[in-house]
Amino acid sequence: MRRAIYPGSFDPITMGHLDIIERSSKLFDEVVVALLMNIDKQPMFSIQERVDIMREVIPWTNVRVDTFDGLLVHYALQQQAQVIVRGIRAVSDYEYELQMALMNRRLAPNIETVFLMAGEAYSYLSSRLIKEVHKLGGSIRGLVPEAVERSMLERK
Ligand code: PNS
Repeated sequence: MRRAIYPGSFDPITMGHLDIIERSSKLFDEVVVALLMNIDKQPMFSIQERVDIMREVIPWTNVRVDTFDGLLVHYALQQQAQVIVRGIRAVSDYEYELQMALMNRRLAPNIETVFLMAGEAYSYLSSRLIKEVHKLGGSIRGLVPEAVERSMLERK
Protein backbone atom coordinates (compact mmCIF):
# COMPACT_ATOMS: atom_id res chain seq x y z
CA MET A 1 0.00 0.00 0.00
CA ARG A 2 1.74 3.16 -1.21
CA ARG A 3 0.34 6.24 0.51
CA ALA A 4 1.43 9.77 -0.40
CA ILE A 5 0.79 13.07 1.33
CA TYR A 6 0.34 16.18 -0.81
CA PRO A 7 0.64 19.08 1.66
CA GLY A 8 -0.02 22.77 1.18
CA SER A 9 -2.07 25.81 2.08
CA PHE A 10 -4.38 25.57 -0.96
CA ASP A 11 -5.75 29.10 -0.44
CA PRO A 12 -7.35 28.55 -2.90
CA ILE A 13 -6.81 25.29 -4.77
CA THR A 14 -5.82 25.97 -8.40
CA MET A 15 -5.92 23.91 -11.59
CA GLY A 16 -2.18 23.40 -11.08
CA HIS A 17 -2.82 21.73 -7.71
CA LEU A 18 -5.60 19.60 -9.22
CA ASP A 19 -3.26 18.51 -12.01
CA ILE A 20 -0.66 17.37 -9.43
CA ILE A 21 -3.37 15.56 -7.43
CA GLU A 22 -4.56 13.70 -10.54
CA ARG A 23 -1.01 12.67 -11.46
CA SER A 24 -0.37 11.52 -7.88
CA SER A 25 -3.60 9.52 -7.79
CA LYS A 26 -2.28 7.46 -10.71
CA LEU A 27 1.09 6.84 -9.07
CA PHE A 28 0.02 5.93 -5.53
CA ASP A 29 -2.61 3.68 -3.97
CA GLU A 30 -3.83 6.51 -1.78
CA VAL A 31 -3.20 10.24 -1.75
CA VAL A 32 -3.95 12.43 1.26
CA VAL A 33 -4.24 16.10 0.34
CA ALA A 34 -3.21 17.69 3.63
CA LEU A 35 -4.13 21.27 4.36
CA LEU A 36 -1.83 23.10 6.75
CA MET A 37 -3.73 24.82 9.56
CA ASN A 38 -1.48 27.86 9.68
CA ILE A 39 -2.72 30.33 12.27
CA ASP A 40 -0.06 32.93 11.34
CA LYS A 41 -1.36 33.57 7.83
CA GLN A 42 -4.35 35.73 6.90
CA PRO A 43 -6.12 33.36 4.51
CA MET A 44 -8.78 34.26 1.96
CA PHE A 45 -10.71 31.04 2.71
CA SER A 46 -11.09 29.49 6.16
CA ILE A 47 -9.79 25.95 6.68
CA GLN A 48 -13.34 24.57 6.63
CA GLU A 49 -14.18 26.43 3.41
CA ARG A 50 -11.04 25.10 1.76
CA VAL A 51 -11.76 21.54 2.90
CA ASP A 52 -15.34 21.78 1.58
CA ILE A 53 -14.27 23.17 -1.80
CA MET A 54 -11.51 20.59 -2.17
CA ARG A 55 -13.87 17.70 -1.35
CA GLU A 56 -16.27 19.11 -3.97
CA VAL A 57 -13.72 19.44 -6.77
CA ILE A 58 -11.55 16.32 -6.26
CA PRO A 59 -13.23 13.43 -8.13
CA TRP A 60 -10.62 10.67 -7.70
CA THR A 61 -11.74 7.93 -5.31
CA ASN A 62 -8.27 7.17 -3.91
CA VAL A 63 -7.76 10.80 -2.81
CA ARG A 64 -8.93 12.17 0.52
CA VAL A 65 -8.67 15.61 2.06
CA ASP A 66 -7.44 16.15 5.61
CA THR A 67 -5.92 18.92 7.76
CA PHE A 68 -2.77 18.94 9.85
CA ASP A 69 -0.73 21.18 12.08
CA GLY A 70 2.75 20.84 13.51
CA LEU A 71 5.54 19.15 11.59
CA LEU A 72 4.63 17.66 8.23
CA VAL A 73 6.82 14.59 8.80
CA HIS A 74 5.06 13.83 12.10
CA TYR A 75 1.75 13.94 10.28
CA ALA A 76 3.12 11.78 7.43
CA LEU A 77 4.42 9.16 9.90
CA GLN A 78 1.11 9.18 11.74
CA GLN A 79 -0.68 8.58 8.42
CA GLN A 80 1.80 5.79 7.58
CA ALA A 81 2.71 7.54 4.34
CA GLN A 82 5.98 6.73 2.59
CA VAL A 83 5.98 9.72 0.25
CA ILE A 84 5.51 13.49 0.31
CA VAL A 85 4.48 14.94 -3.06
CA ARG A 86 5.32 18.51 -4.01
CA GLY A 87 4.58 20.26 -7.26
CA ILE A 88 7.47 22.13 -8.80
CA ARG A 89 7.06 24.85 -11.39
CA ALA A 90 9.97 27.01 -12.48
CA VAL A 91 13.58 26.81 -11.28
CA SER A 92 12.68 29.48 -8.71
CA ASP A 93 10.71 26.87 -6.71
CA TYR A 94 13.67 24.55 -6.52
CA GLU A 95 15.78 26.08 -3.77
CA TYR A 96 12.96 26.34 -1.21
CA GLU A 97 11.66 22.88 -2.12
CA LEU A 98 15.16 21.36 -1.87
CA GLN A 99 15.62 22.87 1.60
CA MET A 100 12.30 21.48 2.77
CA ALA A 101 12.88 18.05 1.22
CA LEU A 102 16.33 17.71 2.81
CA MET A 103 15.14 18.94 6.21
CA ASN A 104 12.20 16.54 6.06
CA ARG A 105 14.55 13.71 5.09
CA ARG A 106 16.79 14.53 8.04
CA LEU A 107 13.78 14.45 10.36
CA ALA A 108 12.28 11.29 8.84
CA PRO A 109 14.82 9.39 6.69
CA ASN A 110 12.30 6.81 5.49
CA ILE A 111 9.96 9.34 3.90
CA GLU A 112 10.84 10.35 0.34
CA THR A 113 9.84 13.64 -1.25
CA VAL A 114 8.73 13.23 -4.86
CA PHE A 115 8.51 16.27 -7.13
CA LEU A 116 5.94 16.33 -9.89
CA MET A 117 5.53 18.88 -12.66
CA ALA A 118 2.07 20.16 -13.49
CA GLY A 119 1.13 20.50 -17.16
CA GLU A 120 2.89 23.45 -18.78
CA ALA A 121 -0.39 25.35 -19.09
CA TYR A 122 -0.34 25.69 -15.29
CA SER A 123 3.38 26.21 -14.77
CA TYR A 124 2.99 29.91 -13.93
CA LEU A 125 0.00 29.51 -11.60
CA SER A 126 0.06 30.23 -7.89
CA SER A 127 -2.66 30.82 -5.30
CA ARG A 128 -1.06 34.18 -4.51
CA LEU A 129 -1.27 35.38 -8.14
CA ILE A 130 -4.85 34.10 -8.47
CA LYS A 131 -5.89 36.19 -5.44
CA GLU A 132 -4.05 39.28 -6.72
CA VAL A 133 -5.49 39.09 -10.24
CA HIS A 134 -8.99 38.53 -8.86
CA LYS A 135 -8.68 41.37 -6.35
CA LEU A 136 -7.64 43.75 -9.10
CA GLY A 137 -10.55 42.77 -11.36
CA GLY A 138 -8.85 40.31 -13.73
CA SER A 139 -10.46 37.05 -14.86
CA ILE A 140 -9.34 33.81 -13.23
CA ARG A 141 -11.62 31.62 -15.35
CA GLY A 142 -10.03 28.29 -16.23
CA LEU A 143 -7.22 28.78 -13.73
CA VAL A 144 -9.19 27.55 -10.71
CA PRO A 145 -12.06 25.03 -10.44
CA GLU A 146 -15.48 26.60 -11.07
CA ALA A 147 -16.48 26.21 -7.40
CA VAL A 148 -13.48 28.32 -6.40
CA GLU A 149 -14.24 31.00 -8.99
CA ARG A 150 -17.86 31.12 -7.79
CA SER A 151 -16.83 31.50 -4.14
CA MET A 152 -14.34 34.21 -5.02
CA LEU A 153 -16.91 36.15 -7.03
CA GLU A 154 -19.46 35.82 -4.20
CA ARG A 155 -17.15 37.42 -1.67
CA LYS A 156 -16.19 40.36 -3.88
O1 PNS B 1 2.41 24.88 -0.77
P1 PNS B 1 2.74 25.63 0.48
O2 PNS B 1 1.58 26.42 0.97
O3 PNS B 1 3.98 26.44 0.31
O4 PNS B 1 3.03 24.51 1.61
C1 PNS B 1 4.02 24.61 2.55
C2 PNS B 1 4.01 23.40 3.50
C3 PNS B 1 2.64 23.20 4.11
C4 PNS B 1 4.38 22.14 2.73
C5 PNS B 1 5.09 23.66 4.58
O5 PNS B 1 4.92 24.93 5.09
C6 PNS B 1 5.04 22.65 5.72
O6 PNS B 1 5.35 21.50 5.56
N1 PNS B 1 4.62 23.13 6.93
C7 PNS B 1 4.46 22.31 8.09
C8 PNS B 1 5.52 22.63 9.15
C9 PNS B 1 6.81 21.89 8.88
O7 PNS B 1 6.87 20.68 8.78
N2 PNS B 1 7.89 22.68 8.68
C10 PNS B 1 9.21 22.17 8.35
C11 PNS B 1 9.33 21.99 6.86
S1 PNS B 1 10.96 21.51 6.42
